[in-house]
Amino acid sequence: MPSSSLIPSDSSVLLTTAGMQQFKPYYTGKADALKDFGSVNVTSAQKCFRTSDIESVGDDTHLTFFEMLGNFSFTVSSEASSEGGAGYFKKEAIKLAYEFVVDILGVSPERIYVTVFGGDHEVPEDKESFNIWHKDMGISAHRIKKCGRGDNFWGPTGAEGPCGPTTEIYVASTAALANDSKGVEIWNIVFNEYYSKIDKTLDKLSQPGVDTGMGLERLATVLQGVPNVFETDLFHPLVSKIREVSDNIDERIVRILADHLRAVIFLVADGLLPSNKEAGYILRRLLRRILVYEIKYDIHADLFPLAIEVVGNNFGGDYPEVNNKKLIAGVLSEEKSKFEKALANGLKEIEKYKEITAKDAFYIYETFGLPFELLGELVPVKVKNLKKEDFEQEFKKHQEISRAGLEKKFGGHGLVMDTGELKVSSEEEMEKVIRLHTATHLLQRALRDALGPSAHQMGSDITAERARFDFSFNRKLTEEEIKKIEDAVNEVIGKDLPVYFKEMPKEEAIMTGALFFFKEKYPDVVKVYFVGPAGGAGGEPYSAEFCGGPHVANTFKIGKIKISKQESVGSGVRRIRISLV
Ligand code: SER
Repeated sequence: MPSSSLIPSDSSVLLTTAGMQQFKPYYTGKADALKDFGSVNVTSAQKCFRTSDIESVGDDTHLTFFEMLGNFSFTVSSEASSEGGAGYFKKEAIKLAYEFVVDILGVSPERIYVTVFGGDHEVPEDKESFNIWHKDMGISAHRIKKCGRGDNFWGPTGAEGPCGPTTEIYVASTAALANDSKGVEIWNIVFNEYYSKIDKTLDKLSQPGVDTGMGLERLATVLQGVPNVFETDLFHPLVSKIREVSDNIDERIVRILADHLRAVIFLVADGLLPSNKEAGYILRRLLRRILVYEIKYDIHADLFPLAIEVVGNNFGGDYPEVNNKKLIAGVLSEEKSKFEKALANGLKEIEKYKEITAKDAFYIYETFGLPFELLGELVPVKVKNLKKEDFEQEFKKHQEISRAGLEKKFGGHGLVMDTGELKVSSEEEMEKVIRLHTATHLLQRALRDALGPSAHQMGSDITAERARFDFSFNRKLTEEEIKKIEDAVNEVIGKDLPVYFKEMPKEEAIMTGALFFFKEKYPDVVKVYFVGPAGGAGGEPYSAEFCGGPHVANTFKIGKIKISKQESVGSGVRRIRISLV
């Protein structure tokens, strides 16, 4: 089977972390491998990404993106009712693995040791695997280690799914080291005997299966006799390119750059775009770390195009998507220019602090787009007392505040929310209303750009279907003006500008030039919502308005809008309707 995309169809995981992921339904009987693949046994080389290993990258073996070889059997039934219908289980899986490593790849048995599951309160010791290794494969007992849950139990990927005890193959560089259990794990053989439910309790699967995973980079390390994954031919071309363009940088940094560059290229090649959410945020973190290192270590070369070239040449034959060099370069360079502007502004902000608290870190993240993790790289001294948990707490608090804001229920109206401006009668409508709400801020700016500052908001009313926007102006708009305004709004949406607010004293807010209703009475401290700056950080915001929210976090979330109608509502006041398309 070909590798599935790094962006999985299983929505309970952000990225593809294992070869078995695309096969989850075949273990549970939800899908039929015999029908779909013509066999209940398959193999694959799968592109994988492990967020959990980001912090370990830089050592000899850990990577974020890697290729995993695997063989899978979806049923243990050996009744070969039809061709391809017979699966295999522990005995065959172990035998296949051992023969492959020793006979095919030529690894000396002296260098090998293995681990098996030692059992705990819930899952019994895997005596069967121990015996197969010992009796059938002839591995001496001291080369078979028994380990617990943390090491020898795998899965599920995501919130629920197949999982089970594992047996793992390690290879050491010498026989003596193998005796001391000092080697590299190259192959994980999982016996999917259980289904882990959402509440983490285990059900026995009616039909257990086999799932194996062998890291290609680690295997290459062993076979090529090199000290670490970065010296294999999978990495060497990229690593030497990085060394060539950078002077005297620490080996660990070279490795991190090589790992992250390769990872971002593969992620973008699969269609992922940097963003502030979920998988897009993981990509953004990697990208921004690369950019911070470029600055911090004074690397003057632009690493993106160099890496795109090397990775394309190295992997394009097996993964044609990385040959999309132009497209990948476009995404990476856009993120680069976005970040450079944000960084300049963020650094200026950071200068103001002697020590950065969790609250400050959240503000810096929200306003300047500097991920928490990068503060440690940029200003280690200022964050030396700042814990990740505290930042996460702050993040959560913020999410809760915005959620609480949304859940204000208004008695009697049957509305979930009615701010006078926004009317929402169900949670489903909420999202559309919020998108339209931000769109009205963009609309006001576009109107004023097209018609002059006499155009000023007089009122608005937003439901999930449309936004009504009333503004002062004394004639009908021409078709061209409508088109120009609509285009301007959509163009700004496409720039994916950040939307954020600051609370400040009313007088100060007025001084910022933010728009507000002349007639309305505001409290002493007001919230001002900003969109932009349009030209990246450093410039004027595209829009600034006194407003209570809520808004989307980035303009791109609005999607596309159209102006569906214009009409007059009394002297000097016109009404425009916009809707999402
Ligand atoms: N699913 C297991 C792993 O990812 C074996 O393939 O390690």
